[in-house]
Amino acid sequence: MSEIINDKQSVAIHAANLVEDGMLVGLGTGSTANYFIEALARRKQEEQLQFSTVSSSVVSMMKAQQLGLDLVAIEHIRQLDLYVDGADEVSPEMSLLKGRGFDLVKEKLLAKASEQFYVLIDNSKLVIRIGEVFPIPVEVTPFSWQMVLRSLQQIGGEGELRKNTAGDGLAITSHGSLVLDMTFDSSLEAVELNMELNAIPGVVEHGIFYQLATHVFMAKDGVVVER
Ligand code: 5RP
Repeated sequence: MSEIINDKQSVAIHAANLVEDGMLVGLGTGSTANYFIEALARRKQEEQLQFSTVSSSVVSMMKAQQLGLDLVAIEHIRQLDLYVDGADEVSPEMSLLKGRGFDLVKEKLLAKASEQFYVLIDNSKLVIRIGEVFPIPVEVTPFSWQMVLRSLQQIGGEGELRKNTAGDGLAITSHGSLVLDMTFDSSLEAVELNMELNAIPGVVEHGIFYQLATHVFMAKDGVVVER
């Protein structure tokens, strides 16, 4: 009996098949990224494909380690060939919203340092406007959150500090930051929001990935298309 493959797996397998011998590949974080790591590990085992990886989070590092992938520490690299990750939202002009997890900083660093950035989605992630479905995560240094929130409110944002999973405390990112989950007026486009958020002191990173994706691959009912 053949294994049932969902859309996240289909698109992950498609991307893994595009990896070439000798590449340094960045591993994203999330369920789609996990499927990609599994598909890469299969290619290494079955085809003896040679490549190194760098992870965007402890979770993807552990997954890669368990599957026997060669890992390079992020501190040791200046650039990479390919970064592969999922996203929460993708707009028609290939802006992304990411960061429902806690690893925005490394994710954006790797996306920026990479020759190619493949974004892997199913069709539930397509939106007209970034921020349409999810709030925009804004990572802040803990001592600055009130001042950052005020700056965000001055550009029309509304939001609050993210709670931890149990709901009895605050969520803390991998880098010890707090997260403000923000919504903005629908007239503000990703390009403007990206500029505004980049300019606020105390913001460590935010979830808008503007002009970073080189390819968006989307699976729908098992068929993978490039957007
Ligand atoms: C983590 C992310 C993920 O890539 C995004 O949340 C998508 O996750 P999934 O592949 O599980 O749907 O941005 O910061």
